[in-house]
Amino acid sequence: MNILRECVCGSASDPRHSVLSELAEYHNETIEESYRKCIDWEALSIAEWKAADRSTPEGVQAFYDTTTSWRYDLAWYAYLQVTGHAFPQSIAVVRFLRSRGAKGKLLDFGSGTGLNGQVFARFGFDVTIADVSKPLLDYAIWRNARYGVDVRPVNLNEEDLPAATYDVVTAFDTLTCVSDFDATAKLLHGVLKPGGWLIANFDTRAAEDASAWHIQDNELDLDRRIRRTGFVKQHVIGGFIDCYQSVDPNTAAHGLRTLCDRTTLPLEQAGLLARRVRWPTPHRMAKAFKLLSAQR
Ligand SMILES: C[S@@+](CC[C@H](N)C(=O)[O-])C[C@H]1O[C@@H](n2cnc3c(N)ncnc32)[C@H](O)[C@@H]1O
Repeated sequence: MNILRECVCGSASDPRHSVLSELAEYHNETIEESYRKCIDWEALSIAEWKAADRSTPEGVQAFYDTTTSWRYDLAWYAYLQVTGHAFPQSIAVVRFLRSRGAKGKLLDFGSGTGLNGQVFARFGFDVTIADVSKPLLDYAIWRNARYGVDVRPVNLNEEDLPAATYDVVTAFDTLTCVSDFDATAKLLHGVLKPGGWLIANFDTRAAEDASAWHIQDNELDLDRRIRRTGFVKQHVIGGFIDCYQSVDPNTAAHGLRTLCDRTTLPLEQAGLLARRVRWPTPHRMAKAFKLLSAQR
Protein backbone atom coordinates (compact mmCIF):
# COMPACT_ATOMS: atom_id res chain seq x y z
CA MET A 1 0.00 0.00 0.00
CA ASN A 2 2.96 2.32 0.55
CA ILE A 3 3.88 1.93 -3.10
CA LEU A 4 0.32 2.81 -4.13
CA ARG A 5 0.49 5.92 -1.98
CA GLU A 6 3.86 6.92 -3.43
CA CYS A 7 2.52 6.43 -6.96
CA VAL A 8 -0.48 8.65 -6.26
CA CYS A 9 1.24 11.43 -4.31
CA GLY A 10 4.99 10.81 -4.05
CA SER A 11 6.29 11.78 -0.62
CA ALA A 12 3.57 14.39 0.00
CA SER A 13 1.90 13.94 3.38
CA ASP A 14 -1.59 14.90 2.16
CA PRO A 15 -2.70 12.73 -0.82
CA ARG A 16 -5.81 14.80 -1.42
CA HIS A 17 -3.87 18.05 -1.73
CA SER A 18 -1.31 16.36 -3.93
CA VAL A 19 -3.89 14.90 -6.35
CA LEU A 20 -5.73 18.23 -6.55
CA SER A 21 -2.62 20.35 -7.00
CA GLU A 22 -1.50 18.10 -9.87
CA LEU A 23 -4.87 18.47 -11.58
CA ALA A 24 -4.86 22.23 -10.96
CA GLU A 25 -1.35 22.63 -12.38
CA TYR A 26 -2.15 20.55 -15.48
CA HIS A 27 -5.38 22.40 -16.18
CA ASN A 28 -4.06 25.80 -15.15
CA GLU A 29 -6.85 26.36 -12.64
CA THR A 30 -7.21 26.73 -8.87
CA ILE A 31 -7.18 23.79 -6.48
CA GLU A 32 -10.77 24.66 -5.53
CA GLU A 33 -11.83 24.39 -9.19
CA SER A 34 -10.13 21.00 -9.49
CA TYR A 35 -11.78 19.82 -6.28
CA ARG A 36 -15.22 20.87 -7.54
CA LYS A 37 -14.64 18.99 -10.81
CA CYS A 38 -13.57 15.85 -8.93
CA ILE A 39 -16.72 15.94 -6.84
CA ASP A 40 -18.92 16.75 -9.86
CA TRP A 41 -17.12 14.48 -12.35
CA GLU A 42 -20.22 12.39 -13.01
CA ALA A 43 -22.43 15.34 -13.96
CA LEU A 44 -19.60 16.71 -16.11
CA SER A 45 -19.20 13.31 -17.84
CA ILE A 46 -22.92 13.07 -18.52
CA ALA A 47 -22.82 16.53 -20.11
CA GLU A 48 -19.81 15.53 -22.24
CA TRP A 49 -21.50 12.28 -23.27
CA LYS A 50 -24.75 14.02 -24.18
CA ALA A 51 -23.00 16.74 -26.17
CA ALA A 52 -23.17 14.56 -29.30
CA ASP A 53 -24.68 11.39 -30.71
CA ARG A 54 -22.94 8.37 -29.15
CA SER A 55 -24.96 5.66 -30.89
CA THR A 56 -22.12 4.79 -33.29
CA PRO A 57 -18.51 3.69 -32.61
CA GLU A 58 -17.39 7.02 -34.17
CA GLY A 59 -19.61 8.95 -31.74
CA VAL A 60 -18.16 7.00 -28.79
CA GLN A 61 -14.60 7.63 -30.02
CA ALA A 62 -15.37 11.35 -30.31
CA PHE A 63 -16.23 11.25 -26.58
CA TYR A 64 -12.83 9.72 -25.75
CA ASP A 65 -11.13 12.25 -28.07
CA THR A 66 -12.51 15.13 -26.05
CA THR A 67 -13.25 14.03 -22.49
CA THR A 68 -11.58 15.97 -19.71
CA SER A 69 -13.96 14.99 -16.89
CA TRP A 70 -12.49 11.47 -16.73
CA ARG A 71 -9.14 12.91 -15.69
CA TYR A 72 -10.85 14.19 -12.56
CA ASP A 73 -12.84 10.97 -12.09
CA LEU A 74 -9.79 8.71 -12.32
CA ALA A 75 -7.48 10.97 -10.32
CA TRP A 76 -10.08 11.16 -7.54
CA TYR A 77 -10.55 7.39 -7.69
CA ALA A 78 -6.78 7.02 -7.19
CA TYR A 79 -7.03 9.23 -4.10
CA LEU A 80 -9.92 7.11 -2.77
CA GLN A 81 -7.83 3.96 -3.19
CA VAL A 82 -5.02 5.47 -1.14
CA THR A 83 -7.36 6.44 1.66
CA GLY A 84 -9.01 3.01 1.78
CA HIS A 85 -12.34 4.15 0.34
CA ALA A 86 -11.94 2.15 -2.88
CA PHE A 87 -10.46 -1.25 -3.65
CA PRO A 88 -6.71 -1.00 -4.48
CA GLN A 89 -7.01 -3.23 -7.54
CA SER A 90 -3.44 -2.90 -8.86
CA ILE A 91 -1.98 -4.01 -5.51
CA ALA A 92 -4.35 -6.99 -5.30
CA VAL A 93 -3.42 -7.96 -8.87
CA VAL A 94 0.33 -7.71 -8.16
CA ARG A 95 -0.15 -10.09 -5.21
CA PHE A 96 -1.94 -12.56 -7.45
CA LEU A 97 0.64 -12.31 -10.25
CA ARG A 98 3.49 -12.84 -7.80
CA SER A 99 1.75 -15.90 -6.37
CA ARG A 100 1.72 -17.34 -9.90
CA GLY A 101 5.32 -16.36 -10.65
CA ALA A 102 4.22 -14.01 -13.46
CA LYS A 103 6.72 -11.34 -14.53
CA GLY A 104 8.01 -9.61 -17.65
CA LYS A 105 6.02 -7.49 -20.09
CA LEU A 106 2.69 -6.10 -18.94
CA LEU A 107 0.16 -4.20 -21.04
CA ASP A 108 -2.36 -2.03 -19.19
CA PHE A 109 -5.17 -1.77 -21.75
CA GLY A 110 -7.52 1.19 -21.27
CA SER A 111 -4.93 2.76 -19.00
CA GLY A 112 -6.78 6.03 -18.29
CA THR A 113 -4.60 8.38 -16.24
CA GLY A 114 -1.95 5.67 -15.89
CA LEU A 115 -1.91 4.96 -12.15
CA ASN A 116 -2.14 1.17 -12.52
CA GLY A 117 0.71 1.07 -15.05
CA GLN A 118 2.77 3.21 -12.68
CA VAL A 119 2.18 0.73 -9.82
CA PHE A 120 3.04 -2.29 -12.00
CA ALA A 121 6.27 -0.58 -13.11
CA ARG A 122 7.19 -0.01 -9.46
CA PHE A 123 6.78 -3.74 -8.89
CA GLY A 124 9.26 -4.52 -11.68
CA PHE A 125 7.03 -5.16 -14.69
CA ASP A 126 8.08 -3.82 -18.09
CA VAL A 127 4.93 -1.79 -18.70
CA THR A 128 3.10 -0.50 -21.77
CA ILE A 129 0.01 1.64 -21.25
CA ALA A 130 -2.51 1.83 -24.11
CA ASP A 131 -5.67 3.83 -24.57
CA VAL A 132 -7.96 5.27 -27.25
CA SER A 133 -8.30 8.54 -25.34
CA LYS A 134 -5.57 11.07 -26.12
CA PRO A 135 -6.64 13.48 -23.34
CA LEU A 136 -6.24 10.67 -20.78
CA LEU A 137 -3.04 9.30 -22.28
CA ASP A 138 -1.50 12.79 -22.38
CA TYR A 139 -2.23 13.25 -18.69
CA ALA A 140 -0.70 9.83 -17.91
CA ILE A 141 2.43 10.76 -19.91
CA TRP A 142 2.68 14.09 -18.07
CA ARG A 143 2.34 12.36 -14.68
CA ASN A 144 4.83 9.64 -15.59
CA ALA A 145 7.42 12.27 -16.52
CA ARG A 146 6.76 14.01 -13.22
CA TYR A 147 7.27 10.82 -11.22
CA GLY A 148 10.13 9.50 -13.37
CA VAL A 149 8.14 6.42 -14.38
CA ASP A 150 9.47 4.47 -17.33
CA VAL A 151 6.43 3.07 -19.18
CA ARG A 152 5.71 3.01 -22.90
CA PRO A 153 2.53 4.85 -23.95
CA VAL A 154 0.52 3.66 -26.97
CA ASN A 155 -2.24 5.70 -28.56
CA LEU A 156 -4.40 2.89 -29.96
CA ASN A 157 -5.79 5.21 -32.65
CA GLU A 158 -2.35 5.58 -34.17
CA GLU A 159 -0.38 2.47 -33.33
CA ASP A 160 -0.99 -1.28 -33.35
CA LEU A 161 0.08 -3.49 -30.48
CA PRO A 162 2.69 -6.15 -31.24
CA ALA A 163 1.49 -9.77 -31.47
CA ALA A 164 2.35 -12.48 -28.87
CA THR A 165 4.41 -10.04 -26.79
CA TYR A 166 2.94 -9.60 -23.31
CA ASP A 167 3.09 -11.91 -20.31
CA VAL A 168 0.21 -10.07 -18.68
CA VAL A 169 -2.61 -7.84 -19.93
CA THR A 170 -4.68 -5.88 -17.43
CA ALA A 171 -7.95 -4.15 -18.35
CA PHE A 172 -9.60 -2.49 -15.38
CA ASP A 173 -13.09 -1.02 -15.81
CA THR A 174 -12.47 -0.93 -19.55
CA LEU A 175 -14.05 -3.86 -21.37
CA THR A 176 -17.62 -2.69 -20.85
CA CYS A 177 -16.67 0.62 -22.53
CA VAL A 178 -15.50 -0.86 -25.84
CA SER A 179 -17.81 -0.70 -28.86
CA ASP A 180 -16.70 -4.03 -30.41
CA PHE A 181 -16.21 -6.46 -27.54
CA ASP A 182 -15.36 -9.57 -29.58
CA ALA A 183 -12.76 -7.73 -31.68
CA THR A 184 -11.17 -6.42 -28.47
CA ALA A 185 -11.14 -9.90 -26.89
CA LYS A 186 -9.42 -11.23 -30.00
CA LEU A 187 -6.92 -8.38 -29.96
CA LEU A 188 -6.01 -9.04 -26.32
CA HIS A 189 -5.66 -12.78 -26.96
CA GLY A 190 -3.40 -12.00 -29.94
CA VAL A 191 -1.02 -9.70 -28.04
CA LEU A 192 -0.57 -12.13 -25.13
CA LYS A 193 2.06 -14.84 -25.18
CA PRO A 194 0.62 -18.37 -24.97
CA GLY A 195 -0.12 -19.08 -21.29
CA GLY A 196 -0.13 -15.33 -20.50
CA TRP A 197 -2.58 -13.73 -18.09
CA LEU A 198 -5.54 -11.50 -18.86
CA ILE A 199 -6.77 -9.74 -15.72
CA ALA A 200 -10.07 -7.94 -16.30
CA ASN A 201 -13.39 -7.01 -14.76
CA PHE A 202 -16.74 -6.29 -16.36
CA ASP A 203 -18.21 -3.19 -14.78
CA THR A 204 -21.75 -3.53 -16.10
CA ARG A 205 -24.41 -1.09 -14.86
CA ALA A 206 -28.15 -0.50 -15.10
CA ALA A 207 -29.03 1.65 -18.11
CA GLU A 208 -29.16 5.26 -16.91
CA ASP A 209 -27.52 8.59 -17.73
CA ALA A 210 -24.67 8.10 -15.24
CA SER A 211 -23.60 4.85 -16.83
CA ALA A 212 -24.23 5.63 -20.51
CA TRP A 213 -20.59 4.85 -21.40
CA HIS A 214 -20.93 1.30 -20.02
CA ILE A 215 -21.94 0.04 -23.45
CA GLN A 216 -21.78 -3.68 -22.65
CA ASP A 217 -24.34 -4.80 -20.11
CA ASN A 218 -24.20 -8.56 -19.43
CA GLU A 219 -21.16 -9.70 -17.46
CA LEU A 220 -21.92 -13.42 -17.74
CA ASP A 221 -22.17 -13.18 -21.51
CA LEU A 222 -18.94 -11.13 -21.69
CA ASP A 223 -17.16 -13.71 -19.54
CA ARG A 224 -18.28 -16.47 -21.94
CA ARG A 225 -17.22 -14.48 -24.99
CA ILE A 226 -13.75 -13.85 -23.51
CA ARG A 227 -13.35 -17.54 -22.74
CA ARG A 228 -14.50 -18.57 -26.22
CA THR A 229 -11.71 -16.40 -27.70
CA GLY A 230 -9.12 -18.66 -26.06
CA PHE A 231 -9.02 -18.12 -22.31
CA VAL A 232 -9.57 -20.27 -19.24
CA LYS A 233 -10.68 -18.57 -16.03
CA GLN A 234 -8.32 -19.59 -13.21
CA HIS A 235 -9.10 -17.23 -10.36
CA VAL A 236 -11.22 -14.28 -9.21
CA ILE A 237 -9.69 -11.46 -7.15
CA GLY A 238 -11.84 -9.59 -4.63
CA GLY A 239 -15.00 -11.19 -6.04
CA PHE A 240 -14.93 -9.16 -9.26
CA ILE A 241 -11.56 -9.20 -11.04
CA ASP A 242 -11.29 -12.23 -13.31
CA CYS A 243 -7.93 -13.86 -14.03
CA TYR A 244 -7.85 -15.74 -17.33
CA GLN A 245 -5.00 -17.70 -18.81
CA SER A 246 -4.50 -17.69 -22.56
CA VAL A 247 -4.89 -21.05 -24.32
CA ASP A 248 -5.01 -22.24 -27.93
CA PRO A 249 -8.67 -21.84 -29.01
CA ASN A 250 -8.27 -24.45 -31.77
CA THR A 251 -7.99 -27.55 -29.60
CA ALA A 252 -10.69 -30.17 -28.96
CA ALA A 253 -10.43 -29.48 -25.21
CA HIS A 254 -11.23 -25.82 -25.78
CA GLY A 255 -14.11 -26.71 -28.10
CA LEU A 256 -15.54 -28.88 -25.34
CA ARG A 257 -15.16 -26.11 -22.74
CA THR A 258 -16.93 -23.66 -25.07
CA LEU A 259 -19.78 -26.11 -25.64
CA CYS A 260 -20.12 -26.62 -21.89
CA ASP A 261 -20.14 -22.82 -21.36
CA ARG A 262 -22.89 -22.45 -23.94
CA THR A 263 -25.02 -25.04 -22.17
CA THR A 264 -24.63 -23.57 -18.69
CA LEU A 265 -25.04 -19.88 -19.68
CA PRO A 266 -28.89 -19.80 -19.54
CA LEU A 267 -28.84 -21.43 -16.10
CA GLU A 268 -26.27 -18.99 -14.74
CA GLN A 269 -28.20 -16.07 -16.20
CA ALA A 270 -31.37 -17.27 -14.53
CA GLY A 271 -29.42 -17.54 -11.24
CA LEU A 272 -28.06 -14.01 -11.63
CA LEU A 273 -31.53 -12.65 -12.32
CA ALA A 274 -32.95 -14.51 -9.32
CA ARG A 275 -30.28 -12.93 -7.09
CA ARG A 276 -31.21 -9.46 -8.39
CA VAL A 277 -34.95 -9.83 -7.82
CA ARG A 278 -36.10 -8.59 -4.41
CA TRP A 279 -38.28 -11.54 -3.49
CA PRO A 280 -41.13 -10.82 -1.01
CA THR A 281 -39.53 -12.36 2.12
CA PRO A 282 -41.56 -12.18 5.41
CA HIS A 283 -39.23 -9.39 6.60
CA ARG A 284 -39.79 -7.33 3.42
CA MET A 285 -43.56 -7.96 3.53
CA ALA A 286 -43.70 -6.75 7.14
CA LYS A 287 -41.66 -3.64 6.21
CA ALA A 288 -43.93 -2.87 3.24
CA PHE A 289 -47.01 -3.34 5.45
CA LYS A 290 -45.57 -0.96 8.07
CA LEU A 291 -44.84 1.65 5.39
CA LEU A 292 -48.34 1.37 3.96
CA SER A 293 -49.94 1.66 7.41
CA ALA A 294 -47.84 4.75 8.17
CA GLN A 295 -49.00 6.41 4.93
CA ARG A 296 -52.69 5.97 5.71
C1 LIG B 1 -13.29 3.72 -16.62
S1 LIG B 1 -11.79 4.05 -17.43
C2 LIG B 1 -10.65 3.03 -16.53
C3 LIG B 1 -9.24 3.51 -16.63
C4 LIG B 1 -8.18 2.66 -15.92
N1 LIG B 1 -8.17 1.31 -16.42
C5 LIG B 1 -8.40 2.65 -14.43
O1 LIG B 1 -8.81 1.63 -13.87
O2 LIG B 1 -8.15 3.70 -13.80
C6 LIG B 1 -11.96 3.22 -18.97
C7 LIG B 1 -10.77 3.43 -19.89
O3 LIG B 1 -10.96 2.65 -21.07
C8 LIG B 1 -10.56 3.42 -22.18
N2 LIG B 1 -11.20 2.85 -23.37
C9 LIG B 1 -12.48 3.00 -23.80
N3 LIG B 1 -12.67 2.33 -24.94
C10 LIG B 1 -11.50 1.72 -25.24
C11 LIG B 1 -11.07 0.87 -26.31
N4 LIG B 1 -11.90 0.51 -27.30
N5 LIG B 1 -9.80 0.43 -26.29
C12 LIG B 1 -8.96 0.79 -25.29
N6 LIG B 1 -9.29 1.59 -24.27
C13 LIG B 1 -10.55 2.06 -24.25
C14 LIG B 1 -11.00 4.83 -21.81
O4 LIG B 1 -10.36 5.82 -22.56
C15 LIG B 1 -10.59 4.86 -20.34
O5 LIG B 1 -9.28 5.23 -20.18
